[in-house]
Amino acid sequence: MSDIEVPKGLTNVIVDETGIATTDSTGNLLYRGYKVVDLVRKLGFEDVAYLIVYGKVPTEQERNSFFARIKENSMIDGSVEDVMRILKEKDVMRNIRSIVSLYPYTSEKSDDLLVEIAAKIPKIVSDSYRIAHNLPLVDDADGSFAERFYYLITGNRDPEKSKYLERLMIMYMEHEFNASTFALRVTASTLADPVAAVTSALATLKGPLHGGASAEILDFFLGFKSGEDAVKYIDDKIEKKEKIMGFGHRIYKDMDPRAQYIKEQLRQMAGDSSLFRIAVAIEERMWEKKKIPANLDFYAAIYMHLLGIDQDFYTPIFAASRVFGWIAHYNEQLQNNKIIRPSSKYVGPTGLSL
Ligand code: COA
Repeated sequence: MSDIEVPKGLTNVIVDETGIATTDSTGNLLYRGYKVVDLVRKLGFEDVAYLIVYGKVPTEQERNSFFARIKENSMIDGSVEDVMRILKEKDVMRNIRSIVSLYPYTSEKSDDLLVEIAAKIPKIVSDSYRIAHNLPLVDDADGSFAERFYYLITGNRDPEKSKYLERLMIMYMEHEFNASTFALRVTASTLADPVAAVTSALATLKGPLHGGASAEILDFFLGFKSGEDAVKYIDDKIEKKEKIMGFGHRIYKDMDPRAQYIKEQLRQMAGDSSLFRIAVAIEERMWEKKKIPANLDFYAAIYMHLLGIDQDFYTPIFAASRVFGWIAHYNEQLQNNKIIRPSSKYVGPTGLSL
């Protein structure tokens, strides 16, 4: 059989089927067939997570028992906090990746184990950060997933800001064969266990071309005093052929629907402030000069900043959301598994002898 050559980066290559998420012909992101912008208006994080994992909108009872499973599994074993005290690692993504991989889980069934991993991520994020910065540990057993997570990362209880965080987390929850999900599916396809697969996904999400982008945006954004300042910076980067974090996407070439939703939420929060105007000036300049749209991470970074969330948590928030998509993909991969093992075109030397 002759080999099939595909474009670099697998651009536009369909590698398998999925029933979890897609982008429709009009540019809407769909989770299990529903437009995400409709889901976020009507459902909470727990409902959408259930929908993604189990393929149906939960009844109230299903939702409550799913959330109860998450709550039961949300605490961290003291021995693992001791490990965090030894590591004192400030990079929260490194902590999530390491702790998820070494955690002494108690679940035996694959589905329970995946939910156990997802349930622990918010507390891993909070405890590891607080330990590394010599801050007291906090927790809040009450409230929704987003309310607890907001409290864990900011130390403040704020139902309104938690609701804004929840909307962003729903946007981040799933995105078909993105790089981290693909890494998870490759690992799952070898029949490695759920912990190994989620660890692969976390390691892949960290890179600045993927989930790490949001953590780099404020580094340049907060330095601008005006839209003109920002435009000069953008022009200079374009001139030097450097990438601007928060722009471009493999799937969305005209518009990222998630970015536009979060932009509107940001407008609600920030009003016609200079911060909002600078963001729009950057978006417009990138489109005018390069025809490259803002992606979700661009508006998400500014949005999380306004919610009073430290930049160290931006990629971890993505991870705590996307893990529910990863659960669905782990299960889907194993329902009809074939090991993912492509070929390569050898371009190295041959016939060498010693
Ligand atoms: N800033 C400046 N130019 C960009 C750009 C950006 N953020 N993103 C893409 N481009 C340019 C590329 O330089 C390339 O130009 P060329 O054809 O002249 O070489 C062209 O647009 C196509 O980009 P490419 O990197 O090949 O697209 P891709 O589909 O392989 O990559 C991303 C997609 C997301 C990795 C890429 O857009 C990127 O690196 N963005 C910045 C990181 C980011 O925000 N990541 C979060 C994604 S949600």
